[in-house]
Amino acid sequence: MFSKKFDRRVRLAGAVFVFSMLVGGAFGTYVLWPANMERGYQPAQPIEFSHAIMAGKHEIACVYCHSTVETGPHAGMPSVATCMKCHDKIQTKDSHGDLKPGIKTLLRHWSEKKPIQWEKVHDLADFVYFDHSRHMAVRSGLECKDCHGDVEKMDRVRRVHSLKMGWCLECHMQPAPAGSPAGQATRAPITCTTCHR
Ligand code: HEC
Ligand code: HEC
Ligand code: HEC
Ligand code: HEC
Ligand code: HEC
Repeated sequence: MFSKKFDRRVRLAGAVFVFSMLVGGAFGTYVLWPANMERGYQPAQPIEFSHAIMAGKHEIACVYCHSTVETGPHAGMPSVATCMKCHDKIQTKDSHGDLKPGIKTLLRHWSEKKPIQWEKVHDLADFVYFDHSRHMAVRSGLECKDCHGDVEKMDRVRRVHSLKMGWCLECHMQPAPAGSPAGQATRAPITCTTCHR
């Protein structure tokens, strides 16, 4: 019914369509794959708080602000009062003599007695049990950067690992370090109830 030329064009159009669906599908799957979606998450914060300045350049210890990281399940977030221990006096101005925007916002929260609502960078599902203090115990041999990367070089905190089950297990399943109790085969327990209780 149609000319050969038209027929060829329809087939070509069909082939191009199928090809672009495949490429698009593969790209979409990669981008939306949970582990890829969640690694690299880097939300904007209400104050451009720079770990590179605070923890890097000025070498303030992580526990100064995340004060329960060695003693409890949660690392904890600093209150405005903790910031003000220093920024009561340190109130840096820019070249025009105005307070830096971050400092201005901080002082406003302080005078209005309003906590700062930091955006969560890491947030495990509620059905997973995680405890910082267990991981910070000396025998675990871990440092913050094993899980969080070089935070002290970040101007804005970025999630460097997916926090998916596979990531936890990859580390827990490593062989037990020398000197571990007899019968301990892996670096850390891998029974389901360790993390799902
Ligand atoms: C132990 C002291 C200390 C604490 C605690 C502290 N800071 Fe700082 N902060 C500093 C120093 C030192 C600087 C660098 C000042 C400079 O470069 O002139 C600084 C700089 C800043 C800046 C300006 C960065 C820039 O140059 O643009 C902001 C914003 C800031 N801090 C916010 C905070 C917030 C928010 C908190 C609480 C979560 C906090 N700081 C806690 C010592 C501290
Ligand atoms: C002066 C206080 C201060 C110091 C010192 C500090 N932090 Fe923070 N940290 C904060 C504040 C405020 C936030 C929330 C805003 C943000 O994400 O930048 C935060 C956020 C984080 C987060 C993301 C939390 C989330 O929502 O999942 C991680 C991880 C972190 N800090 C690790 C570290 C590590 C590791 C160190 C030491 C190398 C450190 N911090 C030192 C104040 C501090
Ligand atoms: C074994 C991996 C691991 C190590 C080591 C580790 N963290 Fe975390 N951190 C996590 C996970 C997982 C979360 C998310 C917890 C959640 O959402 O309940 C988290 C969350 C955080 C948060 C957000 C607040 C909270 O407690 O949920 C901060 C701040 C933080 N870590 C700081 C630190 C600091 C500072 C160190 C080093 C002193 C450290 N972490 C060491 C895995 C780790
Ligand atoms: C980089 C390595 C590493 C990663 C990543 C890691 N862990 Fe662990 N975890 C350890 C080590 C080492 C121990 C054992 C510490 C000790 O000897 O007490 C441990 C212990 C634990 C314990 C206590 C186990 C007990 O004895 O009952 C829990 C719960 C746990 N991890 C949960 C998690 C979860 C959930 C994640 C992922 C979100 C995770 N861990 C990621 C290294 C890791
Ligand atoms: C070392 C910690 C750890 C251990 C051990 C562990 N899980 Fe998980 N599991 C996790 C984390 C973290 C998540 C959350 C993943 C997410 O947020 O998507 C999870 C998620 C899940 C989910 C929800 C589906 C999914 O993939 O998100 C199921 C089902 C599950 N785990 C079953 C198990 C079973 C069965 C075992 C024992 C064979 C087990 N887990 C052992 C950490 C662990």
